[in-house]
Amino acid sequence: MTHTLDPVVPADRTSRIRSAWRAAWDEGRVEALDDLLSPSYVRRRGPAAVAQDRDQFKDSIRAVREAFPDLRTEIEDIVEDGDRIAIRWRSTGRHTGAFLGVPPTGKPVEVSGATFTRFDGSAVTEEWVTFDSRQLLEALGIVTTTQRAAIDPDLVRGVHRKFITGVTVVTTDDDGTPRGLAVNAFSSISLDPPMVLVCVQRSSATHPALHRASHLGISILAAGQLDVAKTFASKGEDKFAQVSWTPGAHGAPLIDGSCAQLEVEIGERLEAGSHTVFTGRVVSARHDDLAPLVYSGGGFFDISHTAPLPW
Ligand SMILES: Cc1cc2nc3c(=O)[nH]c(=O)nc-3n(C[C@H](O)[C@H](O)[C@H](O)COP(=O)(O)O)c2cc1C
Repeated sequence: MTHTLDPVVPADRTSRIRSAWRAAWDEGRVEALDDLLSPSYVRRRGPAAVAQDRDQFKDSIRAVREAFPDLRTEIEDIVEDGDRIAIRWRSTGRHTGAFLGVPPTGKPVEVSGATFTRFDGSAVTEEWVTFDSRQLLEALGIVTTTQRAAIDPDLVRGVHRKFITGVTVVTTDDDGTPRGLAVNAFSSISLDPPMVLVCVQRSSATHPALHRASHLGISILAAGQLDVAKTFASKGEDKFAQVSWTPGAHGAPLIDGSCAQLEVEIGERLEAGSHTVFTGRVVSARHDDLAPLVYSGGGFFDISHTAPLPW
């Protein structure tokens, strides 16, 4: 009787994965992956992420290790089924190099995930990777999900009253219906590319439309537009019937007579406390030689009556 042996028995595959991962992830010897991964290897990370080839994967390990030089990856479970191997893993490391645009924080970071590996003969041809990116973003301070100790909201409100702002009307075209509200939580984010943000409470009637829309408009009200500020700070279906407005080049309603106007292509919608932060890229802009309406300490002011300080 003759026996034919599979040249790569499953036990070899798991031990080869363990040793290649240790070499690449823990010791930075990414060339160890050349023995494991086929030259046509593809690493996939879900529909939104771009697939990586073998060299790109090795580069990404180098980048991660530069940010987390003491990186350790533990294989917590490994399961084989035919030509497939599923690996549940946990990586830990201290963030001592810039990563995802975040300068070193010195914080310990832990990320858990799973990798589904497909072998063709002795080489891995394809991997699907999934991990808890929120865990990583939270550890780096990019997003926060934990509740901090409560602080008296009136105290915080008092602090905000010391901060002077203008008043904007944030608008959108909701399938032919103009919608909008008064917003002073408006800020420039970046000039290159030109990006801004506005914060809108989830209880606002305009909020759902801003989630559906691709663009929003921001009209910075002029000193003579206190009545417009009041209209848009109120609730009501007919706010736009009370003001004169014009659709911008990208369809967002813009308030006539305002001292500056932007149209923004909405980028991210970040849930933050009671509000959503809408960020986006400025796609049209104009401003006039009109003084802005000023909001401070719960009151409205005409800045043209204030004396400029020498600077
Ligand atoms: C000066 C001023 C600034 C405001 N800023 C904001 C803001 O930044 N974000 C927000 O969600 N609401 C803000 N509001 C409150 C909304 O304008 C108000 O709740 C409005 O009624 C919402 O309208 P809607 O529910 O029709 O969208 C502000 C109100 C005033 C008077």
